[in-house]
Amino acid sequence: MQTALTTTILATGAPGVDAAARCLAGGGLVAFPTETVYGLGADATNPAAVARIYQAKGRPAFNPLIAHVENLDAAQAIGRFNADAIRLANAFWPGPLTLVLPKAPGCRVAELATAGLETVALRVPADPVAQAILHAFAGPVVAPSANLSGHVSPTTAQHVQSDLAGRIDLIIDGGPVPVGVESTVVGCFGQPLLLRPGGLPRGEIEAVLGRALAQPPAETEADTSQPLAPGMLASHYAPRTKVRLNAVSCEAGEALLAFGPDAIPGADAVAAYLNLSPRGDVNEAASNLFGYLRELDLRRAKTIAVMLIPDDGLGEAINDRLRRAAVERD
Ligand code: TXA
Ligand code: MG
Repeated sequence: MQTALTTTILATGAPGVDAAARCLAGGGLVAFPTETVYGLGADATNPAAVARIYQAKGRPAFNPLIAHVENLDAAQAIGRFNADAIRLANAFWPGPLTLVLPKAPGCRVAELATAGLETVALRVPADPVAQAILHAFAGPVVAPSANLSGHVSPTTAQHVQSDLAGRIDLIIDGGPVPVGVESTVVGCFGQPLLLRPGGLPRGEIEAVLGRALAQPPAETEADTSQPLAPGMLASHYAPRTKVRLNAVSCEAGEALLAFGPDAIPGADAVAAYLNLSPRGDVNEAASNLFGYLRELDLRRAKTIAVMLIPDDGLGEAINDRLRRAAVERD
């Protein structure tokens, strides 16, 4: 058991940003908002700081981290960009897109952060607070989502606090984040691959590339030696309560996570009810998804029943996270 740390919470603004940059420079762990979800940052070039991230989250060491940088120039010192990667960076950075690229010669990101892979994940976040921290720190910051490993990603500072208080040094509270699901992860080390659907819809990426994104080959449990998408464990992004998908009716004792204007049989008798988007908007649903899962999880219902959500736009990322949340686990 590690000794509990004192976790300070600061507002955004110059003192918070300065404290964040100083904490990072001293090898500390800082949670900060990005437009997708809150990240848990550490100096990417400091192996001891990176190791602390894995310890604080309980994250398996084979799951590599995303290095966050201020702009494309800084990214090019870390990853080797092919023509597709340049096109995507120009179109979508800063924004909710992560590119997985071969490491550049002289890449200063710690080996532990890339889990021994030849590639590195890079993202330029758009959130002004994230940008200000990266600017003040003036170096790459590795940042996984600021939750306990396997749990639902945090979209508010309170979510971070409830998972990580006593395990990290500082939380910068920038209020609820706008997108609500993690960045889309695209591999650009050959044919562009969709490694994780996320906050940037596939269709927008394919429009810029002028072709479809390839799907990584399915990985069997027996062959995880060099996974292409090591973070995509089946049971992940999960509340503690069992999740039941595509509910067309519900039973007493269940909690219902609804979508759209229509009611389903049994909805009036559930233990708890939240609607991701009463008007049926997938962007609104994405921004509510993780917060609502956490809220319904607290109700200790026997199951969280989830209504069908269309797969278009951010719906692909929502359904990906819900499928992982619904996988049977110990
Ligand atoms: O929106 C986001 O991406 C947030 C914010 C904080 O930026 N971060 C985030 O990080 O979601 P994390 O660690 O929860 O997810 C990173 C994903 C994991 O699935 C990881 O396996 C994958 O990116 N990844 C990182 N490096 C990789 C690499 N070299 N090859 C393949 N996948 C990689
Ligand atoms: Mg995560």
